[in-house]
Amino acid sequence: MKIVCIGGGPAGLYFGLLMKQLNPAHDITVVERNKPYDTFGWGVVFSDATMDNMRQWDRDTADAIQQAFNHWDDIELLFKGRTIRSGGHGFVGIGRKKLLNILQARCEALGVKLVFECEADSDEDYVDADLIIASDGINSKVRTKYADTFRPDIVTRPNRYIWLGTHRLYDAFTFDFRKTEHGWFQAHIYKFDENTTTFIVECPEKVWLAHGLDQADQAQSIAFCEKLFADNLQGHALMTNARHLRGSAWLNFQRVVCDQWWLKNRHGSHVVLMGDAVHTAHFAIGSGTKLALEDAIELVRQFQQIGDTADRIPEVLAAYHEARRVETLRIQNAAWNAMEWFEVCGERYCDQLEPEQFMYSMLTRSQRISHENLRLRDKGWLEGYERWFAARAGVDRDPALPAIPPMFTPYTLRSVTLKNRVVVSPMAQYSAVNGVPGDYHLVHLGARAMGGAGMVFAEMTCTSPDARITPGCPGLWTDEQGAAWARIVDWVHAHTDAKMAIQIGHAGAKGSTRRAWDGIDRPLLPNDTEPNWPLISASPQQYLEGESQVSRAMTREDMDRVKADFVAATRRAAAAGFDWLELHCAHGYLLSSFISPITNRRDDDYGGPLENRLRYPLEVFAAVRAAWPDHLPMSVRISAHDWVEGGITPADAVLIARAFKAAGADLIDCSSGQVSKKEKITFGRMFQTPFADRVRQEAGIPTIAVGAISEADHVNSIIAAGRADLCAVARPHLANPAWTLTEAAKIGFTELAWPKQYRSAKVQLESHFAREKAQQASNMAAARLSAKA
Ligand SMILES: Cc1cc2nc3c(=O)[nH]c(=O)nc-3n(C[C@H](O)[C@H](O)[C@H](O)COP(=O)(O)OP(=O)(O)OC[C@H]3O[C@@H](n4cnc5c(N)ncnc54)[C@H](O)[C@@H]3O)c2cc1C
Ligand SMILES: Cc1cc2nc3c(=O)[nH]c(=O)nc-3n(C[C@H](O)[C@H](O)[C@H](O)COP(=O)(O)O)c2cc1C
Repeated sequence: MKIVCIGGGPAGLYFGLLMKQLNPAHDITVVERNKPYDTFGWGVVFSDATMDNMRQWDRDTADAIQQAFNHWDDIELLFKGRTIRSGGHGFVGIGRKKLLNILQARCEALGVKLVFECEADSDEDYVDADLIIASDGINSKVRTKYADTFRPDIVTRPNRYIWLGTHRLYDAFTFDFRKTEHGWFQAHIYKFDENTTTFIVECPEKVWLAHGLDQADQAQSIAFCEKLFADNLQGHALMTNARHLRGSAWLNFQRVVCDQWWLKNRHGSHVVLMGDAVHTAHFAIGSGTKLALEDAIELVRQFQQIGDTADRIPEVLAAYHEARRVETLRIQNAAWNAMEWFEVCGERYCDQLEPEQFMYSMLTRSQRISHENLRLRDKGWLEGYERWFAARAGVDRDPALPAIPPMFTPYTLRSVTLKNRVVVSPMAQYSAVNGVPGDYHLVHLGARAMGGAGMVFAEMTCTSPDARITPGCPGLWTDEQGAAWARIVDWVHAHTDAKMAIQIGHAGAKGSTRRAWDGIDRPLLPNDTEPNWPLISASPQQYLEGESQVSRAMTREDMDRVKADFVAATRRAAAAGFDWLELHCAHGYLLSSFISPITNRRDDDYGGPLENRLRYPLEVFAAVRAAWPDHLPMSVRISAHDWVEGGITPADAVLIARAFKAAGADLIDCSSGQVSKKEKITFGRMFQTPFADRVRQEAGIPTIAVGAISEADHVNSIIAAGRADLCAVARPHLANPAWTLTEAAKIGFTELAWPKQYRSAKVQLESHFAREKAQQASNMAAARLSAKA
């Protein structure tokens, strides 16, 4: 085959040499516009795992890179005058120039033709090529030419960065954060050969503009950075790679994703994108080069498996795209999280977090590295952090004892102390009769209270018959209901050390529906136990288009009546002995319908700007807070994101949280969605946690994170990083009432008390998990041994 690689970066060169090695008969040319030893940038990093992968494909290249490597394990943080270091992170750094030279030399040794100082204007310059690799980097001309087919999605990010170098040498991957009068800057610093270090300086656009750096020439920019990081540089200069834009200017990162990766051009040549041309990953997790090299490996693997003849090219390219698409997205997602962390850290974390927690937050920024990953990397550091965290949570503990995982530290609000950070999230059970919770609720909530969580939420409990979602929803509008709740709360208090919380709410336009298992959100049918009742909400609304009842807009009279109902329910909740009360302002129910612009179309004082839309929910909050005992905490559940164009955004959630905080709320429970059927939710592990994090840091109020939190490792990571104060776990508690006890045993935390009646099961479960862990460790050791052999 005749193959041309347009662009002699890591992708083009590595593909060229691997393909030549696969079959020396191929005629392969790499066309590069630069001179052989001419390149932008300084050093690149990738992980040990990438090296292992490369070694399997071409030992010579891997060995040459290995010799030129700088390998290091430690990450060091310089922040607020402190230096914090943790180990076990396993990076390799190499000069970009050195890497390219190794790849170039290997290409030449294998017989790949290298043509330097040659600008390829188009794929059509190579009419007789069977295959053209468009490895022409982030500004790929080939991608742009065929944009209609490749459908690139290019997002320009808000931070500015400049890629510099220095001769000051560092023995760890170093992050240095500096506060200026206009905001925070950070430097990403790593040594890549015996006398040079990469020094990338980054800040938000507005900080950059405020310092006038848009007007600064290269020398002025360098002088600015040298002054800012003077004590770190210890007299060393910062250097630019002046001849290349990417080595000399303040840039914005561009994230590239393409829908289609290959095509056949009008001369019959197949053209395929590779490396930065098809996807980019932010340097915050340093994976751009890794992605480029692994693209090359995958394409060669497919030729090897399917056949390296011209007639197999379409099949090979389809298989290559399919194989790389998912893996690339995975890395890009992680890089995106890490990039966003650096974009917002100045506003969200730098001023708010103490250095220890800031380090933890930074290390887990991609959300791919969890608490237990950190333990594998550096057990000593993590245990030290766990001790620091527990001390901050008020735990006075003998240092000879093992550290307590963050999940199992206590948490106090007003007079209430939860024994740990897990709460059973409110979950409607639709099993009350006339709003009265019965034996079903006693057993259901009692079992979960025995299951180890610090607090158990009862489901949304309604303030009047017309406030119910379904005829099976419980209420607090009669004394009989109050007494029935008291029986449950008393039982939980008598038999467990869990706290009991109630969530009070009004269903609004989402009321008068069938029980979930008969048709969630669907209006009642004639043969149901009750007829439909009229609905009220902020504005007329039909939740299920063409099907739900249409609600009417509340009058001032309705507002007064509903507020009085909330207050009466609150008094009954207090009398029933609940420890904690939550006001339900989420999920499109009545109070939520006022907050979201999607559901509130009023033109009075309760509609329009957010301040007006919050007026009624805040009125209700104030009345409830006044009726709820002062020594007990109150939280507010909000939908922090409507996931609908024109709806509530996480930025609005911060404003909403601030308003409730000012009204006396102790904590915001950050859920999302269910406001409109048009929502498009991005689900994933812990998918709503970023909202809890943002609200907590930017509104300065404690939060609950909820949604797809399903392992102790998730809870530990969230709590330790300060992304939330508590984690609400819903569906896993339906599957397993003793979820918290089980997770404690799984991670080997044996200090969580079990109900005395169940103690014999505790030891058995703990040893079961310990055996399972030992078995896994021995399987892994055996796998490593056989891989070496
Ligand atoms: C500040 C910064 C830090 C980074 N740090 C890291 C890191 O630590 N680790 C990491 O893995 N990655 C890092 N990267 C990303 C990394 O540089 C790229 O992801 C990687 O180089 C992609 O390789 P590539 O071969 O696809 O593209 P490139 O390396 O961009 O190579 C493309 C080549 O094509 C040539 N070319 C373009 N158009 C033409 C044309 N028309 N004719 C001829 N030649 C052409 C260019 O001259 C260039 O040599 C960083 C990037 C930046 C900006
Ligand atoms: C059966 C069921 C009933 C629910 N009822 C309520 C409720 O009454 N009030 C509420 O705020 N959220 C309710 N939710 C939402 C949960 O509290 C939680 O926010 C959601 O399930 C995401 O958490 P998870 O991923 O741990 O399940 C309910 C969820 C389920 C599964």
